[in-house]
Amino acid sequence: MFKNIIVTGGAGFIGSNFVHYVVNNHPEVHLTVLDKLTYAGNKANLAGLPEDRVKLVVGDICDKGLVDSLVKDADAVVHYAAESHNDNSLIDPTPFIQTNIVGTSVLINACRKYNVRFHHISTDEVYGDLPLREDLPGHGEGKGEKFTPDSPYRPSSPYSSSKASSDLLVRAWVRSFGLRATISNCSNNYGPYQHIEKFIPRQITNILSGIRPKLYGTGKNVRDWIHTNDHSRAVWTILTKGKIGETYLIGADGEKNNKEVLEMILEMMGQPKDAYDHVKDRPGHDLRYAIDATKLRTELGWKPEFTDFKTGLKHTIDWYTEHRDWWESQKAAVEAKYAKQGQ
Ligand SMILES: NC(=O)c1ccc[n+]([C@@H]2O[C@H](COP(=O)([O-])OP(=O)(O)OC[C@H]3O[C@@H](n4cnc5c(N)ncnc54)[C@H](O)[C@@H]3O)[C@@H](O)[C@H]2O)c1
Repeated sequence: MFKNIIVTGGAGFIGSNFVHYVVNNHPEVHLTVLDKLTYAGNKANLAGLPEDRVKLVVGDICDKGLVDSLVKDADAVVHYAAESHNDNSLIDPTPFIQTNIVGTSVLINACRKYNVRFHHISTDEVYGDLPLREDLPGHGEGKGEKFTPDSPYRPSSPYSSSKASSDLLVRAWVRSFGLRATISNCSNNYGPYQHIEKFIPRQITNILSGIRPKLYGTGKNVRDWIHTNDHSRAVWTILTKGKIGETYLIGADGEKNNKEVLEMILEMMGQPKDAYDHVKDRPGHDLRYAIDATKLRTELGWKPEFTDFKTGLKHTIDWYTEHRDWWESQKAAVEAKYAKQGQ
């Protein structure tokens, strides 16, 4: 039904995985990737894809003229483009406001003008954080102890508050202007093509580079991990079967604390479990995220394929091991930036 889809941020981590997913599974679809190629975007993430099916337009989602000229010929926009790294938002929030809020407003105005279907990619971080399971009666198995689409917005960082703002704009454009939009809030992704500034690839590439991995604080912070391929399938499901105006939470019941994940990586890479350093914690570091994806599972029939985190992690370790040329040239600069912050 959708033949021409614009994927914003399609040269980044999750966006490029979505592009690969669509190319491999939906042969009737042509994709236009609109990406500014910031430090986080990489043309190499789209290498080898058929040129007659995927076109890369290097440009800014805040550029009204460019966005207008692309959206008028599209059937749908799937919006991944964002400044996405919490730690960067604590150093300089400005690009987060510009891309995540202003950029989203440019896209939804164009989609409204041409009545184009819009899917907004967001994060569970808009809901703030949850108490650790050990601090909850019944260890967190009760109602209200995971995020649901009805959870209140309580973002903690400049990153999550800019994403929360963009979600609210989309909701208002649906209600006020009849924008044909859906929203998904997903938990932490892992998999190939993730920038090495992020937690899992940073640890893997540290070990591959002979640098000791770094753990923020005590490492008790819990993330609800999902393989990025499962995220892509969920987004396609929502785009094609989701109800206009609805918000769907995407998660794969993958709660693990950072210490557990780091120790698993060390073990799987043949290192002693304690071969890492504790570093200064992130200010305002969210304690725990957990997603209740019942609505997506029951109403739209999606379920994750990567249900064993260890298997997904093994694939991810193998990918970074086999693709040193993809990340090696950035490693020194990324670690120098962290070192400046004592991390
Ligand atoms: N990484 C996660 O675990 C996670 C979880 C849930 C939701 N999300 C959301 O998914 C989306 C993608 O995240 P990611 O981890 O792939 O991020 P990423 O940083 O790897 O990629 C972002 C992409 O957007 C592009 N971009 C940035 N500013 C732009 C602009 N002004 N115009 C055009 N392109 C621009 C970058 O060049 C890059 O290719 C984001 O909206 C993020 O909030 C991420």
